[in-house]
Amino acid sequence: MTAAVNKMHSPQSFALMKQKGQMITMITAYDYASGSAVAATDIDVILVGDSLGMVVLGLDSTMKVSMEDMISHGAATVRGAPQKFVIIDMPYMSYHLSARETRINAARLVNEGTGHAVKLEGGSAGRIQAIREIVDMEIPVCAHLGLTPQSVLRYGGYKVQGKTDAAYEEIFQAALATQEAGAFMLVLEAIPESLGKKISEALSIPTIGIGAGRYCDGQVLVYHDLLGYSNMSPKFVKRYNDLNQSISGSIMQYSKEVREGSFPGREHTYYPIDKQEG
Ligand code: KIV
Repeated sequence: MTAAVNKMHSPQSFALMKQKGQMITMITAYDYASGSAVAATDIDVILVGDSLGMVVLGLDSTMKVSMEDMISHGAATVRGAPQKFVIIDMPYMSYHLSARETRINAARLVNEGTGHAVKLEGGSAGRIQAIREIVDMEIPVCAHLGLTPQSVLRYGGYKVQGKTDAAYEEIFQAALATQEAGAFMLVLEAIPESLGKKISEALSIPTIGIGAGRYCDGQVLVYHDLLGYSNMSPKFVKRYNDLNQSISGSIMQYSKEVREGSFPGREHTYYPIDKQEG
């Protein structure tokens, strides 16, 4: 594949893209390999999502992901994609307890995780204050509203949000509040298309949709979902590949060749014993 690497983005360049009506492309990545794969593309921004808990670590929700997980996966991703703008998710409980812990954890994701910004979920008064605390430390914050997976216990499952008039209005008001608190970008997940459009039109910061319809300022998908490398298939996912099948097929072929003796061949062997001469 031809490398189509673009220059490193910044909060300012994302704002400019919105002003010019240029769509922002975001994808998750979690390690050196996925970071390197994305680095060879023209994707604008990488999210080291706490979805890593489910698609990489096999946990049953994102709520069990730790700061250490996010730091080590964040740093590995940046090593694979040193020219990309990388946002790292703040894990559950890392920005809920006190302003001091919120500040320390955000700083660790930037210093030790080597990210360029952090993302946190929710629009309650506490979460809006968390955005303020982090922005006050000169760290860019991406907000996340709608279906926020760290709220799965309260929701009772992964459900589309903003379906009632009250919930619709609450998410809209929270979106305004994230911008007012200083967020530079807002991820909108699993909400009606009209709400994604209304928020995107009302805000000057870019919105990035995942199941938020066609009118956001950009889109994000989980790396494993896009590539058919997970078993998740929510309505908003489009699969551009079937890596699960391709990987199993390749491993089966390798296993077959070892059993039948056709691998390793002479070309894979150091100082092969030539049967003719022997
Ligand atoms: O963790 C994640 O991958 C996310 C995206 C779904 C936006 O937050």
